Amino acid sequence: MFLEKIINYYRQFGLARTVCHSLARVGFAFYYRKMLFYEKDLCQLNGDPHREFTGMHLEHIDEEKLKAIDNYYDGWRTKDGALRRLQKGYQLFSLKEHTERLSYIWVDTGSTEVPYLQLRFPLPEGHSCLAYLYTVKDHRNRGVATLSTQRTMRLFGEKGYTRMISFVLPKNVTVQRVNQKLGFRRFGACTYIRILFLKIYVCRSLFANRRKLFFPLGKNSSRLLNSFSKS
Ligand SMILES: CC(C)(COP(=O)(O)OP(=O)(O)OC[C@H]1O[C@@H](n2cnc3c(N)ncnc32)[C@H](O)[C@@H]1OP(=O)(O)O)[C@@H](O)C(=O)NCCC(=O)NCCS
Repeated sequence: MFLEKIINYYRQFGLARTVCHSLARVGFAFYYRKMLFYEKDLCQLNGDPHREFTGMHLEHIDEEKLKAIDNYYDGWRTKDGALRRLQKGYQLFSLKEHTERLSYIWVDTGSTEVPYLQLRFPLPEGHSCLAYLYTVKDHRNRGVATLSTQRTMRLFGEKGYTRMISFVLPKNVTVQRVNQKLGFRRFGACTYIRILFLKIYVCRSLFANRRKLFFPLGKNSSRLLNSFSKS
């Protein structure tokens, strides 16, 4: 099984990446990664311009519906991974135009995972977190991601959530544009430095204009979001 995975990875990405990937799997990793943190206050959505597109609706996807989807995320993400996320209580939505799926969007509550930062952490009461926003290729740049996010914000605002957060790669200017259109504001940035087994996170809070450093043990950290607080 393990060998099969390595061979598939090698076929897809070549020798150099396979060696780096295999070393990383057993802990010999070197990373320098950055992530931007955005937030939206869900208590003040009434002033936002309401985007309406007739014939489009946001659908909640449970395990049964997931199994019936063809070409989930255009193959970018797997259904097995989605099932595991659903079983952890994370929620999946899809914007549909009549019967056609235009986008996918996950919302995490209770806790969230950021594989890119190799971290998992609890979310405070009232917080929801967006993940893996995706618009099907043929429907990009017509406002689909913006509408999906807006409908999701409204839904979670109605459910009583007060804050929605979103993590974005600095190079992903398209999601930053979507966030900007919807009034999300950037509240921090996290730089992840990994040298072999040592993990260092440098969190820069835009609230307090300061940096905090922390060194979590394992994948869990309850301190990441706290490092952005005002105090
Ligand atoms: C990111 C993504 C979800 C955006 O979906 P979308 O439906 O095309 O987004 P929207 O149409 O709502 O808005 C896109 C905005 O970004 C702008 N944009 C697109 N490409 C851009 C670029 N290279 N530079 C700057 N702005 C860009 C568009 O012009 C539009 O802004 P506008 O409405 O002011 O014109 C889609 O590109 C995608 O699925 N990408 C791959 C997956 C991904 O990166 N997901 C996010 C992280 S997990």
